[in-house]
Amino acid sequence: MRIYTTLIFCSLVIAGEQQTPVVSVEPHSAVVKQGDSVSFSCSAQSSTQPVRLEWKKTNNQALLDNVKIGQDGSVLTISNSRPGNHGTYRCVGTSTKGKSQSSASLTVHYSPKVQVTPKSPVRVRTGEAIDLECQGTGRPRPTVTWHREGGDKTGTSSSTEAKATVQVPAAGPEHAGVYVCKAENSEGTVEAKLEVKVEGGTRTPSPPQASILQSDMVKVEGDLATLQCQATGYPTPTVSWSKLRAPLPWQHKVTDGTLFLENMGRQDSGQYICNATNSAGFHEATVQIEVETPPYATCIPEQVRVQVGEAIRLQCLAHGTPPVRFQWTRVGGSLPPRAQNTEGLLLISQARLAHAGTYKCVASNKWGSSQALAKVTVQSA
Ligand SMILES: *[C@@H]1O[C@H](CO)[C@@H](O)[C@H](O)[C@H]1NC(C)=O
Repeated sequence: MRIYTTLIFCSLVIAGEQQTPVVSVEPHSAVVKQGDSVSFSCSAQSSTQPVRLEWKKTNNQALLDNVKIGQDGSVLTISNSRPGNHGTYRCVGTSTKGKSQSSASLTVHYSPKVQVTPKSPVRVRTGEAIDLECQGTGRPRPTVTWHREGGDKTGTSSSTEAKATVQVPAAGPEHAGVYVCKAENSEGTVEAKLEVKVEGGTRTPSPPQASILQSDMVKVEGDLATLQCQATGYPTPTVSWSKLRAPLPWQHKVTDGTLFLENMGRQDSGQYICNATNSAGFHEATVQIEVETPPYATCIPEQVRVQVGEAIRLQCLAHGTPPVRFQWTRVGGSLPPRAQNTEGLLLISQARLAHAGTYKCVASNKWGSSQALAKVTVQSA
């Protein structure tokens, strides 16, 4: 029983081998740039000679004129390849006993091409929609984007791979211009331009409306303040900054209508004005900035010479944001018991020799403190 089965199996294998030829293709796949040449070779093994070899393109598309097949049918050569050569090629081997095939795939890379719709120039009336589309082709698949010559994108612009659109629901004069579609892949870049003309229905000018995004603020000396001004109106207003009754601080900078005040000092406190102007008028918005400063103390006088029995008067003064508190002490000792301190004025009514020495005033406010020294000499009468 066992022997019988084995015999049948063997004879089936032999019969199978004898029937169809075995076809193989080298290489299985290739990637070339447009213009390059490439060859695929096909070989067949069969116990039943001869085998006829034939090359076909998948889906039985016709082979292009730059595809040549060698005399024995084994080598397929594509010279000066072009995008149309992209695809799968089958080698079919046929003998009297049957048919078999193997295939190779060819990828042809090429630089992008774009097609923009509608045709340039595009004329729309004010208020109508603008709808631009750009379709890119190329291998690898290009990325496609839109931008406007000499300006930002307007409307919504979206791009999925190989296709980009610009959509403006209601066109205004500001949407007119030259739009550029760009497609890019590893093989190159291409651009197509399209002009949009917005006609008729001239928009009536409207006066500007300015607003400052920040509200009144308190800053500390050395701080940076950033003031943004937003202006609406048609035509688009120009924005300028000024300071009420004073020039702008010299360290100021203006970028895109935003005012930057660096390293602010006490003198930079005040009211700042954003002025939006267009042909229909102007509008001002203001913001108040207070710059707080720590005190800077001085003693008047810095040196005092009195006779025993006379009064000692030392005045401590300070620049800085009020309220400023003053405290007097004596360096290396204590104040005489009868010393009075009122608003920074130190008064010692009857000087004695022992009152000679250095006195220190400390001025302080919420933002910091500062000290100043005064020297007292007492002479015996
Ligand atoms: C704002 O601009 C208008 C027009 O240019 C001008 O008349 C006005 O004085 C300006 N205001 C300030 C505060 O500069």
